Amino acid sequence: MYNEIDFDKIDIALCPPIEEPARQYYFMAKCRKWVSAFTQKNGRPPKACVTTFGCQMNARDSEKLMGILEVIGYVPTDSEQADFVIYNTCTVRDNANQRVYGRLGELNRYKKQNPQMRIALCGCMMQEPTVIEKLKKSYSFIDLIFGTHNIYKFAELLWASFETEGMLIDIWGETDKIVEDLPVERKYPFKSGINIMFGCNNFCSYCIVPYVRGRERSRQPREILREIERLVADGVVEVMLLGQNVNSYGKNLKEPVTFAQLLREVEKIEGLRRIRFMTSHPKDLSEELIEVMKQSKKICRHLHLPLQSGSTRILQQMNRRYTKEQYLELAERIRREIPDIAITTDIIVGFPGETPEDLEETLDVVRRVKYDNAFTFIYSKRTGTPAAAMENQVPPEQVKEGFDRLLKLVQETAREQVAKYQGQVMEALIEEVNESDASLVTGRLSNNTIVHLPGDASLIGKIVPVSLDECHGFYYIGHCILDETGAE
Ligand code: 5AD
Ligand code: SF4
Repeated sequence: MYNEIDFDKIDIALCPPIEEPARQYYFMAKCRKWVSAFTQKNGRPPKACVTTFGCQMNARDSEKLMGILEVIGYVPTDSEQADFVIYNTCTVRDNANQRVYGRLGELNRYKKQNPQMRIALCGCMMQEPTVIEKLKKSYSFIDLIFGTHNIYKFAELLWASFETEGMLIDIWGETDKIVEDLPVERKYPFKSGINIMFGCNNFCSYCIVPYVRGRERSRQPREILREIERLVADGVVEVMLLGQNVNSYGKNLKEPVTFAQLLREVEKIEGLRRIRFMTSHPKDLSEELIEVMKQSKKICRHLHLPLQSGSTRILQQMNRRYTKEQYLELAERIRREIPDIAITTDIIVGFPGETPEDLEETLDVVRRVKYDNAFTFIYSKRTGTPAAAMENQVPPEQVKEGFDRLLKLVQETAREQVAKYQGQVMEALIEEVNESDASLVTGRLSNNTIVHLPGDASLIGKIVPVSLDECHGFYYIGHCILDETGAE
C-alpha cells in the first residue's frame, strides 16, 4: 500500500522495475529528488494546481494526479499561478474543448512571468488526434501531454518531461491494464468516488466517450471492496461508485459478477453509511438491482437514468437500444418499488433529424416521469462519431427553441418534486460551510437534494437529522434536530 512506502528508501540508482505499481513508485522517488533540488534552489517547495473539466470520472482522476504530485513533494494550490499546472480535460461536447483553448492563453502568460512553470494536459480531449495537431502547432509552451489510458504512468511521464526540452507527448490508443494502489488525494475527507469500471462499449451514436476512454473494463470486486474498506477506515462515510454504465459492471470479468451483487457486498462494509452510483444505462438496469436498492439501508434514494430522447425513432438513431415505452415502464416500476426515490436524467436536444414532434415525445416523458432534476444539453457534433456524419443536422433556431421549452418544463417538474418533502425530517450529510453565509452549513439528503441549515464546520462529515422547513425551488432551508445521543 502506497502510504506505507518510504519513497526515500527506493534505490533510484537501479534500473526501473518492470512491474506496476512498483515502477511508478520508483519514478515518484526520482521526481522527489527533482523537487528537493527545486526547493533548495528556490527556498520553497514547488506548488501544483490540478484543474478538472468534465465529469465525476475526471474529478476522481484528478484526485489521483494530486495524490501523486503530493507524494512527489508538490504543495497543492487552487491558483493556476503555480509551478506545475495540469488540465484534466473533457471532450464530451465541443464547448468543453473551447474552454480549454480559451484558458491556455492565460497559462502562457503565467509561464512568461514564471519561466520555471511547467504545464501539462491530460484526459479525454487529448485522445483526439486533431487536438494534438492543434496543440503541437499553436501551443508549443506546453511541456507534457498524455491521454486517458496511461494516466497511471503520470509519475514516469513527469520524470521524462523533466528530462525533455520542449513538448513531450504520450498518447495510447487503448489499454486493458488497470493499475491498483497508486496514491490518491481526496478532495473531501468524508466522501469519495470509486472507479468500478473504465471505458464504455455502448457506442451511442452521438458520443465520443467510447473512442476516448476505450473498451469497458471492470475492476475486480475484491479490489473495489478493499479500497472502500480503507477509505472507511480513513473517515469516509459516503462512496460514489463510478462507471460510464455501472449496470454492465462485471460482465467481462473472468468470474462474472453483477452490479447488484457488488452492491450487496459494498453494503456489508461496516462504518460505511451511504452508497451512490453513476451512471445507469436504462437498457441494462436489472430487476435484481431494483430489488437490492429497495432492500438496502445504505444505497441512496437517487437514480440517475439518462433518457437522451423521448422519441423512439431518435433513440434508435442514437443507438440507445430502448424505446420510449420501455423507458417509461422502467421509470414507473422504479417509482412504484421505491416511492421515495429521486430520478434524474440527461437529455440531448437537436440530435440530427430531430423534429418538433420528436421533441414533444421528450416533453411527454419529462411530464410523466417528473424528474427530480435533469441535465439538458444541446447536441454537439463530435468528429468521428456516427451522428457527425448524419446529414440532417437541426437548424440552430429550432434547437434553441426546443431547448428553452425543455428547460422550462424540467425546472417545473424538478421544483414540484423537491417541494414534496417540505416539513419532513430527513438525514443530511453535512458537506461544507455555506459559501455565501458562514452561519449556515450545506448538506445533502439521500435523494441528492441540497439543504442549508444553521451550523458550523464541526458538523462537516456528519449525518444529521434535518427538518426541511422551507423549500426554495431546488433546495431547502432547514434546521438540525438533535436526538439524545447527539448529532448522529
Ligand atoms: N452532444 C450533447 N450532449 C452529449 N452528451 C454526450 N455526448 C453528447 C453530444 N455529442 C451528454 C449525454 C450524456 C452526458 C454525459 O452528456 O446526455 O449522458
Ligand atoms: Fe456515451 Fe452512451 Fe457510453 Fe454514456 S453509454 S458514455 S452516452 S456511449
